[in-house]
Amino acid sequence: MNRREALRVAGLAAVVAAVGAEAKMEEQYMNRLEMKPKNPKKLDKGELKHTPLITLKEKDSKGYTLVEILIGQGGIVHPSTQDHWIDFIELYADGKLVGKSTLEPEISRGAASFGLKLDNVKTLTAKSGCNLHGIWTATHTL
Ligand SMILES: [Fe+2]
Repeated sequence: MNRREALRVAGLAAVVAAVGAEAKMEEQYMNRLEMKPKNPKKLDKGELKHTPLITLKEKDSKGYTLVEILIGQGGIVHPSTQDHWIDFIELYADGKLVGKSTLEPEISRGAASFGLKLDNVKTLTAKSGCNLHGIWTATHTL
């Protein structure tokens, strides 16, 4: 290979690497817009599919209450496929982040549980991230 051919091959390799990096960036695109329902008192089907459902379960002997968060309400379960899934769930107690789960597509659905001492907590807020449809929030007042 002469110098001219070597430069041509190196140039092609750089183009291939750049296209590959761009394709990888497209694969990793995540919608991080904060979403709000049009009418919080009457969620439509897409809003029901994404809005976290916060349920308080039993309190253990040490005073921790199990807080369950499911993504999807009204019998609707958010999908979990390679190109559309809930990638994280966060839980806030009175505005402070107290737990976060990172979720993988297909094997995990939008669900998480956290054990919290709720004695002086007034509100719980759950946030969930859908890679396509943004970040959805629900608040539970204690
Ligand atoms: Fe979604």
